[in-house]
Amino acid sequence: MRLTRVTVQFNCVVFCLLWQVAFGDVSYSFQEEMKRGSLIGNIAKDLNLETSKLSSRNARIDAAGNRKRYCDINLNTGGLIVADRIDREELCGEKLSCVIKRDLVLENPLELHPFSLHIQDINDNPPQFNEETVNIEIQESADRGARFVIEEAQDADVGQNSVQQYSLKKNDHFILATSGNTVELVLDKELDREKQDDINLVLTALDGGSPQRSGTVVIHVTVLDANDNVPVFSQAVYKASLPENSPVDTVVVTVSAADADEGINGDVTYDFGHVSDDVKKVFNIDRKSGEIKVNGAIDFESVPTYDLRVKAKDGLGLSSYTKVTVDITDVNDNRPVISVKSLANPVPESVQPGTEVGIINVQDADSDNNQHVRCSIQQNVPFKLVPSIKNYYSLVTTGQLDRELVSDYNITISATDEGSPPLSSCKTVQLSVADINDNPPVFEEQSYSAYVSENNKPGSTLCSVTARDPDWRQNGTVIYSLLPGEVNGAPVSSYLSVNGDTGVIHAVRSFDYEQFRSFKVQVMARDNGSPPLSSNVTVSVFISDVNDNSPQILYPAPEGNSFMTELVPKAAHGGSLVSKVIAVDADSGQNAWLSYHIVKSTDPGLFTIGVHSGEIRTQRDISESDSMKQNLIVSVKDNGQPSLSATCSMYLLISDNLAEVPELKDISYDDKNSKLTSYLIIALVSVSTFFLTFIIIILGVRFCRRRKPRLLFDGAVAIPSAYLPPNYADVDGTGTLRSTYNYDAYLTTGSRTSDFKFVSSYNDNTLPADQTLRKSPSDFAEVFGDSNSSPEVGACHVTFLRSDKRF
Ligand SMILES: *[C@@H]1O[C@H](CO)[C@@H](O)[C@H](O)[C@H]1NC(C)=O
Ligand SMILES: *[C@@H]1O[C@H](CO)[C@@H](O)[C@H](O)[C@H]1NC(C)=O
Ligand SMILES: *[C@@H]1O[C@H](CO)[C@@H](O)[C@H](O)[C@H]1NC(C)=O
Repeated sequence: MRLTRVTVQFNCVVFCLLWQVAFGDVSYSFQEEMKRGSLIGNIAKDLNLETSKLSSRNARIDAAGNRKRYCDINLNTGGLIVADRIDREELCGEKLSCVIKRDLVLENPLELHPFSLHIQDINDNPPQFNEETVNIEIQESADRGARFVIEEAQDADVGQNSVQQYSLKKNDHFILATSGNTVELVLDKELDREKQDDINLVLTALDGGSPQRSGTVVIHVTVLDANDNVPVFSQAVYKASLPENSPVDTVVVTVSAADADEGINGDVTYDFGHVSDDVKKVFNIDRKSGEIKVNGAIDFESVPTYDLRVKAKDGLGLSSYTKVTVDITDVNDNRPVISVKSLANPVPESVQPGTEVGIINVQDADSDNNQHVRCSIQQNVPFKLVPSIKNYYSLVTTGQLDRELVSDYNITISATDEGSPPLSSCKTVQLSVADINDNPPVFEEQSYSAYVSENNKPGSTLCSVTARDPDWRQNGTVIYSLLPGEVNGAPVSSYLSVNGDTGVIHAVRSFDYEQFRSFKVQVMARDNGSPPLSSNVTVSVFISDVNDNSPQILYPAPEGNSFMTELVPKAAHGGSLVSKVIAVDADSGQNAWLSYHIVKSTDPGLFTIGVHSGEIRTQRDISESDSMKQNLIVSVKDNGQPSLSATCSMYLLISDNLAEVPELKDISYDDKNSKLTSYLIIALVSVSTFFLTFIIIILGVRFCRRRKPRLLFDGAVAIPSAYLPPNYADVDGTGTLRSTYNYDAYLTTGSRTSDFKFVSSYNDNTLPADQTLRKSPSDFAEVFGDSNSSPEVGACHVTFLRSDKRF
């Protein structure tokens, strides 16, 4: 290039000279920046002009327009001199040839001689860079060989005087490469910002002039950070321990990573690496600070350990990872859970103590001590818990169950763990007891008594029995029935019936007190269980008397067929017992309490009758004037309401002598068949006499034993038992009185007292232990006791014998 330019320049000079010669044109070549006045050439001589005439011809240099002339002519010598500073760079810039055209003007005659000035360059300008300092930034990651263009230096000079070469001050990283006008820094060795983050290079530009000029520039290389460092965690593994249920925002652990890079490349942010969504729900990480905090519910029971992968990332995406292990520590936050695995419900009440009725399982989700559970049961139930395998317990009965006492149990099982504070829970197990037919029906009373008046209507209600059975449903349903049996030889069902459902007892027929006064039946109450249970009760039926029987006079024989006559000794004193009216009443009590009255008598003042004893006594001493035959009509009344009565006639003969008896005939009623009657009387009297004698002998023996002096025979009245109607007395072969209710009277005269002995034979049937007869024997005693106080009647001793075994 330089060479080329020089050649051109040289060629031009040659050409100009030739051109000047050929066309007569003159040119001069000279260096710029010559001093003013410096001689360029002798133009006059070159143009063959006379020097002497130059002044006179007014020679001058003319420039077209107002342009600078740059040169002038010395009129004396005809030399061309520099008139102004000629700066080639100013005039021609970068043009290789710099030519100024001027004219030499002469007058007289006018001549115009053009000439040209060729300005030669001198090295008057150094190479210059645009700036003193060039800043470039290079990534530290730039590869070896990378090129970085530097703006080239400028040199106003041309040709050889312009920039010819560059040099770079020696350094570690860069070399220079130039080609044409371009200047490039070539990276010869990689940069490392972390070692050296800026480099100053000095670049020098040299021109080809002589003396050589140069210009320098400082290249300031800033090594830009490349993200060539990964963040580094302070620990390879972070371990943290966290109690469960820690509140949100509790700091678990803080991770930190350092990055050697700077700026964004060293800006570490944290995040979770690949973790499950569940973990993300539980923890969060602060992107800036690396604080891992609780974000959700921490439950040891669901996840005891978390392994978190944490990523640290710098701004441009280099990242590294660490592991954070969070061990959750257990807190006693789970109550024991009681579950009933099996339950025999209902439990029959008959199970033996110690029977397993259920299996209970207790779980606690916590661990260790928080998991250890103690189980208990409330005290007042007949059950206990027996520990079985692991967390299983058997629910076992401890005593006999009784559905009738407690039919349902609410068994409260409580479980407490050993945590601190302990947690507990309860569960109530409802258990019912199933019925077993273990209770027989029980009558409300030990025995029942029913009272009914005789002559009742068939079908009337007597009483009702009630039995209770506490068992359940049919096991407690009571059915009543009569137990088969006999009353007086007839089946009980012909007397009574019982309503199976209600226990009401009805009479089937009408009862007759005189036939029987009481009877007992057995009523059974049976439940409907299988097998059924039953119990029996005795129902005593007491028939009470109604005054439906009029008194029956036994002695004397009823009117009409009586020819009995009592003998009254003439010497009888007032008050002597002469006879006795004997009457019975089939009824009892007041209905059988008889009173005697004389309704009519031959001599009203002579005889009196004991109102209750029926004893006929003389009222005064018998006198001779008294009629021998006395006739009394006696009425016997019972005390019933209304009362019933009977009458009889009594014939009395005042005589000491039985020989006077034939007069009896006169006394007696006119009788057609008196002969037969008299035979009968004789037979009866003799039998009676015999019987009386027999009794008297026995009595005599008795009285002798008692050593009580008594008159043997003082107007004694004997009543032969044969007079008793068959249903009142019966003498069987052994002579034992068998009748159920028997009056046996014997009387002694003379002592003026009478022993009137009731011999009543009771069966156990008729007199129950609780003395429920309406009229007890003592009632009679009172009645007779009253009569004792009566002055007209002698003292009367009544003996009751409960049993005829005394005989
Ligand atoms: C058992 O609990 C049930 C329901 O709470 C209640 O109705 C019943 O009366 C209780 N039984 C006993 C025997 O406490
Ligand atoms: C009655 O008792 C029997 C056992 O004696 C029992 O099997 C039955 O279930 C009971 N009936 C009811 C209704 O409870
Ligand atoms: C009731 O009486 C009947 C018949 O005599 C007898 O079979 C049954 O065992 C008795 N029941 C009781 C509980 O005594």
